Amino acid sequence: MTVPATVARIEREAADALAGAANVEELRGVVTMVLGKRSPIVRVHRELGALDPDARRTVGKQLHDTRERLEALAAERLEALAGAARAARLEADRLDLTEVGAVVSSMSRGHLHLVDQTRRALEDVFVGMGFEVEEGPETETDWYNFVALNIPLAHPARSMWDTFFLDVGEPETVLLRTHTSPVQIRLMERHAPPFHAVMPGRTFRRETRDASHLAVFHQLEGLVVDHGITFADLAGTVETFANAYFGPDIHTRLRPGYFPFTEPSAEVDVTCTICRGEGCRTCSHTGWLELAGCGMVDPAVFDAVGIDAEEWTGFAFGFGIDRCAQMRHQLADLRLLDENDVRFLRQF
Ligand code: PHE
Repeated sequence: MTVPATVARIEREAADALAGAANVEELRGVVTMVLGKRSPIVRVHRELGALDPDARRTVGKQLHDTRERLEALAAERLEALAGAARAARLEADRLDLTEVGAVVSSMSRGHLHLVDQTRRALEDVFVGMGFEVEEGPETETDWYNFVALNIPLAHPARSMWDTFFLDVGEPETVLLRTHTSPVQIRLMERHAPPFHAVMPGRTFRRETRDASHLAVFHQLEGLVVDHGITFADLAGTVETFANAYFGPDIHTRLRPGYFPFTEPSAEVDVTCTICRGEGCRTCSHTGWLELAGCGMVDPAVFDAVGIDAEEWTGFAFGFGIDRCAQMRHQLADLRLLDENDVRFLRQF
């Protein structure tokens, strides 16, 4: 074999070896082998002296070009292998968020509690009738919860509400509100009439829990004060509300009642939502369920907040949000609403 042919074969083999290196480390070994001091092209170079001058020049140039091509090939392979190594490292470091996504979407997402859903649905009905939504604090003073509502200290009517008093200030002056009626007072103190507002919120009574009572429950208070408001407006509002929230076949009736802050006062009954008025155990075979208290705002309440009772009249009502949820969804036991059993909560 001629020397040029040998050099050509050396180049082919060297190029194959460079191309075959699987990673950067292997490539470095191959480079030493094909271009290093003991490599075939260096060996041929050492033997150049034995050739005649013409052949020496030709082969010398061939060796030079071969080395340049092999060096370029080695550089190209190094870059490719280093790039691949970098990509592999990045891939290994990557956080596989698709897995997290899969776990999250297989966990069921939370949703509003039935009581919150009910509160919002009730608010929607009243907002649709032109009412505004107001809120007040859950901790109240004796003045807002009782006195301004025409229930002076030691008035026997206070026993209508078993109260949680807080150990703050003078004894029995700070309490957890027993109803949402104090929000009426706060609203009327702050603004001038007219008012068309509903006031939802959490309320507290020192009571033993049972199937139809909770110690911590929710009420929705209503207050309308304007010129010429009559009891007929109250009756119409309550009926419109019941039709909108419970359905067109559910009606209301008003029975005489007593509240210190309304005169006259009434209890609102609605058609039993279990038997739709036929009579069943839940409604004690009357066809009616008690839902709310209501009445015309007592002039003494207007006096307490400085509103002229000669000019303005109004009505108020207050009903249980939890009770509404119970009636609409036919819950056998109100306690389901605060026990946080997901098997129950998931159904709504
Ligand atoms: N606050 C009364 C209660 O909790 C309900 C009510 C509100 C009655 C407004 C009349 C007017 O029992």
